[in-house]
Amino acid sequence: MKTEIVRLSKKNWEKVAAKAAEIIRRGGLVVFPTETVYGLGASVFDERAVKKIFKAKGRPSDNPIIVHIARFSQLKELAEKISGIDKKLIKRFWPGPLTLIFKKRKRVSSIITGGLPSIAVRMPTHPFARNLIRKAGVPIAAPSANISGRPSGTLGRHLRQDLSGRVDLIIDAGPSSVGLESTVIKTEGGKIFILRPGAVTKEILEKASKLPVFFAKDKKKLQVSPGTKYRHYAPKAKLEIFESEKELKKTLQTFKKRKKKAKVLRYKNLKLMSKNLYRDLRSLDQRGAQIILVKAVSKAGLGVAIMDRLERAARDTI
Ligand code: TXA
Ligand code: MG
Repeated sequence: MKTEIVRLSKKNWEKVAAKAAEIIRRGGLVVFPTETVYGLGASVFDERAVKKIFKAKGRPSDNPIIVHIARFSQLKELAEKISGIDKKLIKRFWPGPLTLIFKKRKRVSSIITGGLPSIAVRMPTHPFARNLIRKAGVPIAAPSANISGRPSGTLGRHLRQDLSGRVDLIIDAGPSSVGLESTVIKTEGGKIFILRPGAVTKEILEKASKLPVFFAKDKKKLQVSPGTKYRHYAPKAKLEIFESEKELKKTLQTFKKRKKKAKVLRYKNLKLMSKNLYRDLRSLDQRGAQIILVKAVSKAGLGVAIMDRLERAARDTI
């Protein structure tokens, strides 16, 4: 497949949106920017197009896809019931990096939901993403734009490397601003369960909702978010998390002895770490690093999402 690659600018903004919308409408695949990471999108109501997403990414078929909307009314096309609590959260956090799980409507193909009776939906903040969804006239099903198992795409160069020849159009709008995937939540019995931590943190959710918020860590809840069971976000190099400078020194000496090329990643703050982590993992891979060492951060606020991705990437197997 021939992939067209465009760099988005103020000048071509509307033209590119119209072109991308047309591709989505006729069953093609488009890589488009969101504020979290890039998405690999297709029309939610075109089963053949959605199947192509799984193929392009090499994604396991039981890993469900998030659907992106531009207006609240589109949620009603997808979700059976919207509870009062969900409505409140939507009012406070949409558009934004928060994905909610609903009971799906019959018309939503179970290919999108990986066979689950539920559907994940979010309204992105990125103005281009919302314009594209509006123009396409349908909600857009879009997982992160990367080959399955690799860090999500947050930069044009990395999107091209993973998806050239596999999609119709790649829209490069510069680096993603959040850099980590959205927070995925499910509300149940007056409680909020975080299935995947993200930039909308436990603390932020608690403060806004005044409800108890839990991380869904147990096996039963993880089955509810199948994607989280796979090895994920991983560079080709081996990733190791270190706790202290002393530990780092020791580890570096060992690798030096073994003649392994080790690189250390450090960040000034959590926001910059979230924004640049995937970009840096990929760049170090390309520069031939065999080991990537990243300093652990404390598991509070945005630190929870960062450590979640790091720990998954450091795992050897699923
Ligand atoms: O920020 C994001 O969420 C990005 C951008 C493109 O919006 N998308 C993204 O999609 O990260 P993806 O496919 O890489 O991750 C989707 C996550 C997976 O962990 C999946 O298991 C979970 O959402 N998910 C999707 N549908 C679900 C459902 N019905 N129930 C529970 N979890 C679901
Ligand atoms: Mg993904």
